[in-house]
Amino acid sequence: MSGPSHDNHFFDTFMLVLGILVLIAFGIYFGASAIASRTQETHVLSDPMLQAKVVDRIQPVGKVAVSGEDNSAVAETVAAPAELKEMPGDQVYGTVCVACHGAGVAGAPKFGDKAAWATRIAQGADTLHKHALEGYQGKAGVMPAKGGLNTVTDASIIAAVDYMVSKSK
Ligand code: HEC
Repeated sequence: MSGPSHDNHFFDTFMLVLGILVLIAFGIYFGASAIASRTQETHVLSDPMLQAKVVDRIQPVGKVAVSGEDNSAVAETVAAPAELKEMPGDQVYGTVCVACHGAGVAGAPKFGDKAAWATRIAQGADTLHKHALEGYQGKAGVMPAKGGLNTVTDASIIAAVDYMVSKSK
């Protein structure tokens, strides 16, 4: 098995294999671009975050205020004060109150100490809430307003007082 016919046979097979490989390569190329055009591009272009960034990037560098005109569009936008967070009472306690009330340091009535809390509870819940929210100077020491946690709502502090009280009577 040698000579021109053998070479021809080899050549035919070789070209056939090569042809199939080229077809597969084209298939992968067009298949991939078909999938990409349906997913990637449209998805990215319709992404609101991307759109917002584009709008942001093409903003003019400066705006001109004209006297006598409505200049509300160029008014400085002042950052709104951060929203106060709503936090469950036990979590507020664990975040700040525990620092003093956990071990009863600096004159703070200790968490769970029934005797220490009895006279305070006798003042009524409203007084306890007020003292925790506004802070106060007592005979034993200083209770700071909101225990120093100014990022949570009043309701969260009140919940922390109620939590401490419920565990201390
Ligand atoms: C820096 C220490 C400290 C932290 C933090 C602290 N307290 Fe106090 N707290 C005190 C002291 C001291 C007193 C007692 C003051 C006194 O009666 O002389 C007190 C008293 C209180 C009382 C009793 C008030 C009264 O009228 O008898 C309540 C209720 C209270 N704290 C709630 C809280 C809550 C709720 C938190 C957390 C949000 C908190 N405290 C965090 C130090 C602290």
